[in-house]
Amino acid sequence: MNKVKSLNRKDLLGLKDLSVEEIKLILRTAHSMKEVAARPIPKVPTLLGKHIITLFFEASTRTRTSFNMAAKILSANITNIAISSSSVTKGESLIDTVKNLEVMGVDAIIIRHPMGGAPLLAARNCKASIISAGDGFNEHPTQGLLDIFTMQEKRGKLKDKKILIVGDISHSRVARSNIWGLTKLGAKVTVVGPPTMIPRGIEEMGVNVSYNLDDEIKEADFINMLRIQNERQEKGLFPSIEEYHKLYGLNKERMKYAKKDVLVMHPGPINRGVEITSEVADGPYNVILEQVTNGVAVRSALLFLLLGGKT
Ligand code: CP
Repeated sequence: MNKVKSLNRKDLLGLKDLSVEEIKLILRTAHSMKEVAARPIPKVPTLLGKHIITLFFEASTRTRTSFNMAAKILSANITNIAISSSSVTKGESLIDTVKNLEVMGVDAIIIRHPMGGAPLLAARNCKASIISAGDGFNEHPTQGLLDIFTMQEKRGKLKDKKILIVGDISHSRVARSNIWGLTKLGAKVTVVGPPTMIPRGIEEMGVNVSYNLDDEIKEADFINMLRIQNERQEKGLFPSIEEYHKLYGLNKERMKYAKKDVLVMHPGPINRGVEITSEVADGPYNVILEQVTNGVAVRSALLFLLLGGKT
């Protein structure tokens, strides 16, 4: 099959929509971008004159910063809109906001929003490229791509690799983007967590389901731990943080049963001592900060490809 050389799409809203060839194109391009980012002067003129906006309705450290770095590496102009001091606080709708940005000549708008589908709504109402930086429980496509990039960088082809995604699957956009992308690449994905945190019917996405981390850990090539949101405790999804950690937390004792070359991942931010202990998060198996580094390369690749670049 001929390799695709460009992304013939305006927007990136999720990995569900991407073909295998499109995913491979982004990953290949990210390898070149990683080389650019590692240069003493990490700057190329590729997107000179392009205007990019970040519009984050939720907090972010990694995603927003790495999109900023990616834009600057490619010489694009980037503006971060602070929602708290924007006209959103006066009741302006998302559609009006993106339409106003569009007529100023913006080329791409990167949106993080608590409502699943918000980037899709923006994309349908705006000529600028819309990139989802995470929407509700739906998808976090660039996190999924950087996770896959990191796995491939470490272990090569992912076909038949065993990947555990552990934690609050129901509310995780990271889990969904990982599942869409990894299953397209032929990986064997198992989601693990308490029954209250695994949505019914998720097997239809092509994954196995397990409620017992100890049963699964021995065979795993990668363990991707998800953040437990303490605020959800009020909803009684599990009896206590201590109980959760005992059953689903990744700690030194549990790691004794894992393969010697297993790799531990986490999208961040981490709740140390809840879903993962510091010993494991900072230990020899972890690639957590490498994921963050790779976020710059993957987001550079995506900006390059969406804004007209060809490999
Ligand atoms: N992983 C991730 O999305 O991190 P931020 O919330 O800091 O962007």
